[in-house]
Amino acid sequence: MIDIHYHLIYGVDDGAGSLEESLALAEESIAEGVTHIVCTPHASDSFAYRAKVNQERMEEIQERLGDRVKLVMACDFHLNAENIHDALKNPLKYSIDGKGYLMVEFPEMAIPPQLGEALQRLHGVGYTCVITHPERNPVIVRNPKMMADWMRAGSLVQVTASALYGRFGQQAEAFSNQLLDRNWIHFLATDAHHMEWRPPHMKKAYEYVAKRAGEETARRLCVENPMAAVTGTKLPTQPEPVGVWDDAPLKFQETLQSAPKRGGESTKKSWLGKLFGR
Ligand SMILES: [Fe+2]
Repeated sequence: MIDIHYHLIYGVDDGAGSLEESLALAEESIAEGVTHIVCTPHASDSFAYRAKVNQERMEEIQERLGDRVKLVMACDFHLNAENIHDALKNPLKYSIDGKGYLMVEFPEMAIPPQLGEALQRLHGVGYTCVITHPERNPVIVRNPKMMADWMRAGSLVQVTASALYGRFGQQAEAFSNQLLDRNWIHFLATDAHHMEWRPPHMKKAYEYVAKRAGEETARRLCVENPMAAVTGTKLPTQPEPVGVWDDAPLKFQETLQSAPKRGGESTKKSWLGKLFGR
């Protein structure tokens, strides 16, 4: 598995607080079968993005871990004016290994239409935007039509692994499961911060998805799509996201529904699938 959202680098944000904590988190991931960790220090109003320090500490951690897991640099990129300006001025700077995939976080209080336009501008300079944990953003949960708009314009979606089995509350659980059932998720990742309160657990989510949506989907969300993000290549063909093209605003249920009956996931190549590539 490949974990593309992870606050592994110590002392630069609210993630790991020391080298020892970074190593303990990474060891837990290795034990779960994670082969690549994408380090995503925050670039936000609270935490400045310190590229040089991030790189030095990632190399230090990598040296201690050896080749048992591969660390890759990226950013937990908050969509504020300053960040957007800098990302447009320095194309691909904040993306995963500088290869294009950008992990974007929307504000939780209000999402002005200009941010949708910002996504377009970021796409225009070569980024592929990945919307991080929409299930934890109350504005998006109230108005998932926004997500459909961004997805139609080529954005991808990353959901927090543990949200699927209720670690972020009932609403996030219901919302993320409905995203899963509708094929609106491209990546699962832990957003790991800390061994107790935000642990790096991918395996349980992988097994959960395999049971609810099939092994093929679990591999797509935890292995194949994340690998494409790490290597900066086009995603493999994705199943059709149900409802993304509907005109009527989508209504999500507030509580967890049982999984829909599966008649085999659609693997036919669609023109929509092309939107999900770079
Ligand atoms: Fe994060």
